[in-house]
Amino acid sequence: MTDILLRGRVLTFHDEPLAGEASSETYTYIEDGALLIRNGKIVMMDDYSVLRTDAGRDAEVMDHRPHLIVPGFIDCHIHYPQMQVVGSYAGALLEWLNKYTFVEEQKFANQGHPERIASIFFDELIRHGTTTAAAYCTVHKASVQAFFTEAHKRNMRMIAGKVMMDRNAPPGLLDTPQSGYDDTKALIDEWHGQGRQLYAITPRFAPTSTPEQLEMSGALLREFPELHVQTHLGENLAEIAFVRELFPWSRDYTHVYEHYGLLGPKTLLGHCIHLTDAEIAAIAGSRSVAVFCPTSNLFIGSGLFDLDRLQKSNVRNAIATDIGGGTSYSMLRTLDEGYKILNIQGQRYHPLRSFYQATLGNARALSLEGVVGSFTPGAEADCVVLDARATSALRVRMETVETLIEELMLLQTMGDDRSVVEVYVAGKASKSALD
Ligand code: GUN
Ligand code: ZN
Repeated sequence: MTDILLRGRVLTFHDEPLAGEASSETYTYIEDGALLIRNGKIVMMDDYSVLRTDAGRDAEVMDHRPHLIVPGFIDCHIHYPQMQVVGSYAGALLEWLNKYTFVEEQKFANQGHPERIASIFFDELIRHGTTTAAAYCTVHKASVQAFFTEAHKRNMRMIAGKVMMDRNAPPGLLDTPQSGYDDTKALIDEWHGQGRQLYAITPRFAPTSTPEQLEMSGALLREFPELHVQTHLGENLAEIAFVRELFPWSRDYTHVYEHYGLLGPKTLLGHCIHLTDAEIAAIAGSRSVAVFCPTSNLFIGSGLFDLDRLQKSNVRNAIATDIGGGTSYSMLRTLDEGYKILNIQGQRYHPLRSFYQATLGNARALSLEGVVGSFTPGAEADCVVLDARATSALRVRMETVETLIEELMLLQTMGDDRSVVEVYVAGKASKSALD
């Protein structure tokens, strides 16, 4: 395979740019830079002139000047079966789930439906510059087969799992503790570590699992401790009250997951909005990850994610779209809404920090640092090429933009898939290939 040299303004992060004016040690930005890619991996990032005359002498050059090249975006919480739920007119979470989401997810029992939606889903991720995601499938095994088959075909780094749910949902969406366990185990055997695919143990949330199923989920994690776990936590007050009714012995919602051994450094907890100090301490102590889903939290009216409070208590965090509670596939739109949620609480979200989060920050949250999310040598070459002048409104605003930081801020405030010029998946141009 020929080496590739991607030329443009390259930006990658080394660490989290913390509050205030983010320091330049946390990132590398090269104006006339390039990435040398070999066999789908980053060999090095340097000045174009240096790479062109040395290691990249024989490489094929893809010239993306004057655009910005950043690592592919990572979405840490998304439901691929909810593509046709986005924008459903419901008040709050439980109504939204019962009226729309559970209805739509039942269609994944239909022949051909999971395959069709999976294919459209990955097109949409690519179109928006998302190259890695932690995704929920449905309760149906076929939904997972369709998801991983499509991701594997496209060679995309994905984390996903069969939703386990055995109560409080329509019969067409229920498994049993045993069938949930057996199906999950078979899917792990087939898909975990197959190419770039990773399996996540996925009990939907405490209200839809019996104690027996949560017990089985914990048993799966003890058998496969390297796997991710994904679930929902503390999204909505009625949901929390329901958990209190279902698990009256439990100190709080978080303790349900703790009790069944489901917390840990690879556990992704969607939402984490309404938490007590004791819950935050348990999440921090277990090194679990709180996943911020701004567009969803606003759309479903769930509440405001308190990033400062969580970070002060050393809770790891990530950011995500949460399609179909969320309203956009775009991580740029997601950062924008995240900025607003934090701003309304008097918290700052510097654009360097938000771009860090959508790339290296989320890679760290998924324990995938060095694999995706940065241009460190050896990382998988997933890259997004961004054009901050993609629309007429962006072009006129860019006339007054003078710095990289201002450009990032504009990209996240006004940008969307139109600003995603090209996407490389393991070194392969993939957005242009869609058209
Ligand atoms: N809680 C349980 N399931 C879901 C879901 O599909 N979306 C959201 N936003 N919250 C949930
Ligand atoms: Zn969700």
